[in-house]
Amino acid sequence: MAVILGIESSCDETAAALVDSNRRVLAQHIASQDDAHRPYGGVVPEIAARAHAERLAPMIAATLADAGLSLDDVDAIAATAGPGLIGGVMVGLVSAKALAMASGKPLIAVNHLEGHALSPRLADASLAFPYALLLVSGGHCQILRVDGVGQYRRLATTIDDALGEAFDKTAKILGLGYPGGPAVERLAEQGDPAGVPLPRPLAGSAEPHFSFAGLKSAVLRAKEGGRYSDADIAASFQQAATDCIADRLAVSLKAAGDVSALVVAGGVAANRKVRALLEGIAAERNLRFVAPPLALCTDNAAMIAWAGIERLNAEGADFSGDPLDFAARPRWPLDPGATPARGAGVKA
Ligand code: KG4
Ligand code: ZN
Repeated sequence: MAVILGIESSCDETAAALVDSNRRVLAQHIASQDDAHRPYGGVVPEIAARAHAERLAPMIAATLADAGLSLDDVDAIAATAGPGLIGGVMVGLVSAKALAMASGKPLIAVNHLEGHALSPRLADASLAFPYALLLVSGGHCQILRVDGVGQYRRLATTIDDALGEAFDKTAKILGLGYPGGPAVERLAEQGDPAGVPLPRPLAGSAEPHFSFAGLKSAVLRAKEGGRYSDADIAASFQQAATDCIADRLAVSLKAAGDVSALVVAGGVAANRKVRALLEGIAAERNLRFVAPPLALCTDNAAMIAWAGIERLNAEGADFSGDPLDFAARPRWPLDPGATPARGAGVKA
């Protein structure tokens, strides 16, 4: 049985967790920086990095104390090494290196996206490879076939904005504040999903990719036009976004081949309309539908610790960890062989 300390600091959540190979989360702490970034309507990298630097060390100490463990009881230290805001990633990775050096325990450099991709297996022991994964967060919007640890085939990505980013921008346009996804979802409950005519970018296209920039612009025009209520705009945006997911996923699921399940991960997986849609799509295709519990959907350190455990299991007994000079990576695609999507170049 292994116990892993996980550290997450790639965006605006500072988090530490202890997870064991029996899928038990022994302790976890998470601090969001929403208040610090709210005045700017989005994450400010410099502010994020400073906040991680202030909070992380005491948070790791508190996590160990909660579990009644010391570093001696930990088998490895896993930290997000990218992709993400590089200042924040460096804070977490350097902390992990220091702990690894001081304790003599292996360092595991985790791809944040792999943390999201494997998180459903922390919650559900019966989820087997391969599965189709919709990874939708503030920075990422991809469909992947997951064949195993480190084995990913990217089926689709976004050519402009990520889905969470589209939720956040819609929230900003509607003056709902930051972070936007949950606020848009709440307001949408009071609106008419067919109340505002909005586009479904790339719907019907044979290429698999997503696009949300046109939808965001249409939301801005609808707001500026002054004819629609904010609730109708929010509900119609959410409807258009879920329609896009359904349309795009159909193309990718054809290309995915045989998979055991349809899995959703990333912050937008917290959205109930998105979950309900995916549940329906999975049922139509006789696929299992697996979504991690909400707390595991948004950024957290339990998923990073779990990715460390999966890596330990995959590497076998000879694995002594990643090198202590492992460099933080602002970009780190899960499928380095994937051909770039038209118009892409901003997001991994
Ligand atoms: O995975 P995550 O915590 O951070 C990234 O790695 O990006 O995802 C955060 C994103 C934000 O864009 C946020 O607005 C979105 O997930 N989100 C939601 C909901 N909860 C979080 N989007 C739609 N509906 C929600 N309930
Ligand atoms: Zn994330």
